[in-house]
Amino acid sequence: ADVAARTAMVVDEHGALEGPLLPILHGIQEEFGYVPVEALPVIADKLNLSRAEVHGVATFYHDYRKHPAGRHVLKLCQAEACQSMGSDQVAAMVKSALGVGFHETAADGSVTLEPVYCLGLCACAPAAMLDGAVIGRIDADVVDEIVAGVRS
Ligand code: FES
Repeated sequence: ADVAARTAMVVDEHGALEGPLLPILHGIQEEFGYVPVEALPVIADKLNLSRAEVHGVATFYHDYRKHPAGRHVLKLCQAEACQSMGSDQVAAMVKSALGVGFHETAADGSVTLEPVYCLGLCACAPAAMLDGAVIGRIDADVVDEIVAGVRS
């Protein structure tokens, strides 16, 4: 089905919920892997919201991607415990090694980099999640391994 039809389906599944916009955006991202811009007017029409409102919410929450993700998704924890253990330096190393910033996907489609706010791994800070698997105590060597992994 096309984006409009699949979006309409996701909206209908959530239509009965109170304040359904966030769960719908979540459902859209599950369906497509991101929130296609063509989905927004469909959601707006179905929920009787303005397109600007839907667009505003979709862009306010960085969890919703505007583009398909890369083959790998790397999330670097930027919350307090990880900050105090050097997550800024980790992020700087990763960004320069991969040539991407947060909320960006490498030009070759290999990896999407995203910040995350606490993975529950504070005891092993700084922490990250690569394709759903958590990684703790990230130092320069671990960064090298991660970078090699997403490039292979
Ligand atoms: Fe990074 Fe909790 S603050 S895992």
